[in-house]
Amino acid sequence: LKRDLISIEDLSNDQISSLLDHAAELDQRGRSSKALEGSILATLFLEPSTRTRLSFEAAMHRLGGAVITSADPAASSTAKGESLADAIRMVDAYADAIVLRHPAAGSARAAAKVARAVILNAGDGGHEHPSQTLLDLYTLRKELGRLNGALVVLYGDLRYGRTAHSLVRGLARFGARVLALAEPGLPLPDWVVQILQKQGVVAQQVELEGLEPIFGGRPPTAMLLERGQHQESWRPGRLALDPGEVDALYVTRLQKERLPAASEGRYALPPIDARFLAVAPFNRAIVMHPLPRNQEVDPGLDLDRRAAYFRQAASGVPVRMALLQWALGRLELGGAPAERTPAFPGGGKTCGDAACISVREPSTAPAECHRSADGSMRCAYCEAAWPG
Ligand code: NCD
Repeated sequence: LKRDLISIEDLSNDQISSLLDHAAELDQRGRSSKALEGSILATLFLEPSTRTRLSFEAAMHRLGGAVITSADPAASSTAKGESLADAIRMVDAYADAIVLRHPAAGSARAAAKVARAVILNAGDGGHEHPSQTLLDLYTLRKELGRLNGALVVLYGDLRYGRTAHSLVRGLARFGARVLALAEPGLPLPDWVVQILQKQGVVAQQVELEGLEPIFGGRPPTAMLLERGQHQESWRPGRLALDPGEVDALYVTRLQKERLPAASEGRYALPPIDARFLAVAPFNRAIVMHPLPRNQEVDPGLDLDRRAAYFRQAASGVPVRMALLQWALGRLELGGAPAERTPAFPGGGKTCGDAACISVREPSTAPAECHRSADGSMRCAYCEAAWPG
């Protein structure tokens, strides 16, 4: 079986833990090796990137492998109207593994079906970004010492921010509590919440109490996602956080490139700065961000010990080293592999999401559905509800 990483669900908890353990070893030893000598990695980026592409490439170089790259969408044959399937077929002939970033949801899954090479999803539209989640989980584990029971606030554009979609699934699986504090009008998509609910996560809309210093008289509505029963102090609909209760604030920028043209595109949530972190529930929280940042985290915070975003970005190299070694068959991960859900032909129906690769390029990605973890039928590419 090909070791693609399309969704964070492609790896079991045991496999993720084992991969992060291996990354921690590489991080400590900090040495280069010849582990992937003779292998070629292609990085095919049809959307802008700095960190993700360069950290994958640095990881491959540190393992003695070679890298070929197509980093500028405007300079690629896609700009000449080439289909994703044709682009992948060609790169497939040149490389053993392909790191793909593409603007359509489900594009990485479509590529994996065409390619003989391993496909690593480096962001498929507003859908997922699983290798980012691996380094986010690595950072949380390293900085907090645990995932189970930790309270992580997701803050910002949670609708189009693909890093949040993969991360919230990973956090829930490792027993973390998540408070989704979304930019107005940009909450976590229904497909994400519904899948989590069916996996045993309770989702509650809550009004946050005691945060007037930050939000004034209009506290934002948040969604609390946690496994099982709430504590005794729980009052439905309201949530007063204890001092120091928040372990991490994970901030995302407005995904302007995916926002509908009509929307304003201005950040309404207050930026994370020293004043924000002085408010009792947040005073111990580390601040994470997949980067690039715009105005949502104040650069004045960069020298604060709680600002973890540059440490987070740096861990991209050891984590992606471990991922490449696994994907190319040079590393075995402990524990059971993840279960794969079988997909079925669309049977004349098509996905209703205009951003899905099966809608944008049906010749590359013929309509397919699958029964997802929540028991309902979903598009096998982008996980949108399948038309009933
Ligand atoms: C993120 C992405 O591309 O989704 N960047 C990254 O990979 N670190 C986040 C973003 O662009 O906002």
